[in-house]
Amino acid sequence: MTPQIRAFDDAAIVAAAAVIATGGIVAIPTETVYGLAADATDAVAVARIYAAKGRPAFNPLIVHVADIAAAMRIASFDDDARALAAAFWPGPLTLVLPVRRDAGIATLVTAGLDTVAVRVPRHRAIQALIAATGKPIAAPSANASGAISPTRASHVATSLGDRVPLIIDDGACPAGVESTIVAGRTVLRPGPITAAQIAALWSDDAPATGPSDGAGGLVADPARPVTAPGQLASHYAPTKPLRLDATTARDGEYLIGFGGIDGDMNLSPRGDLVEAAANLFDALHRADASSSPRIATAPIPGKGIGAAITDRLRRAATR
Ligand code: TXA
Ligand code: MG
Repeated sequence: MTPQIRAFDDAAIVAAAAVIATGGIVAIPTETVYGLAADATDAVAVARIYAAKGRPAFNPLIVHVADIAAAMRIASFDDDARALAAAFWPGPLTLVLPVRRDAGIATLVTAGLDTVAVRVPRHRAIQALIAATGKPIAAPSANASGAISPTRASHVATSLGDRVPLIIDDGACPAGVESTIVAGRTVLRPGPITAAQIAALWSDDAPATGPSDGAGGLVADPARPVTAPGQLASHYAPTKPLRLDATTARDGEYLIGFGGIDGDMNLSPRGDLVEAAANLFDALHRADASSSPRIATAPIPGKGIGAAITDRLRRAATR
């Protein structure tokens, strides 16, 4: 089976919005690269993104919204963030900001972190999809894990094949590289908006934190370390000891079950790994907040998206 590739027009966006509304995933161009889109408030839909990419670990995703007002409903903005948004949105800039819990963003989007990456894209196709769905759209680059980012519909089809049912084709992405990611005054990922452009906004200010680097506190000098996003996004980890592959709860343990092993909660009673991924970070938060001093987790098969689940749990267990 090959994915359906439809040229961008109103009818294609209606079709794409229908897929998103039923918890599905769609590939859609942005001004940077093609994204693999899902409703950011639907945990199972977001899990389908990870499953389609075949990523062996969860990396937090960027949430795409129509405008600054919509972004402010999802994240808390400080003055620096407001200035960046005013200067560069819509456009290829992503801001990492504290997530607003009342926004209903699935915890799988942020990998359980208390920050969220948000951006207002400029491209007409993803803007049309956001408008048609009325939802914040979670979207990583629409490539299989380990492959290069797609800048044409054909790249997506080659990389993901029938793992994505629908690709909206609106030609080549104008920027062709992923958005610049900024957290506080640090550029986490260089991109189309340059560090110099960003630093210019703050040139009159004292640095927010740390010693002056001549760029208004912005860590933008190539001689200084720029943290790779995946590294900085040290994912949410429970504060309690965690025991893996438990078939029953021992004294004082909150058991996170799976399939036939029921615990204090069950990631997926029917043993569905996509559903389990969708519930994973909520389960860890709940176990952490419970009165039990320890956490145990039932065995999870390490195939498909299960590999990302077991990776996450192994890390949590060895902290
Ligand atoms: O241009 C782009 O940004 C494209 C288009 C589709 O919008 N998207 C994209 O997504 O490049 P992705 O998933 O390939 O890269 C998102 C990056 C990851 O490296 C992730 O670690 C980082 O954003 N990220 C997301 N949420 C974060 C957070 N809360 N804290 C730190 N980094 C975060
Ligand atoms: Mg990527």
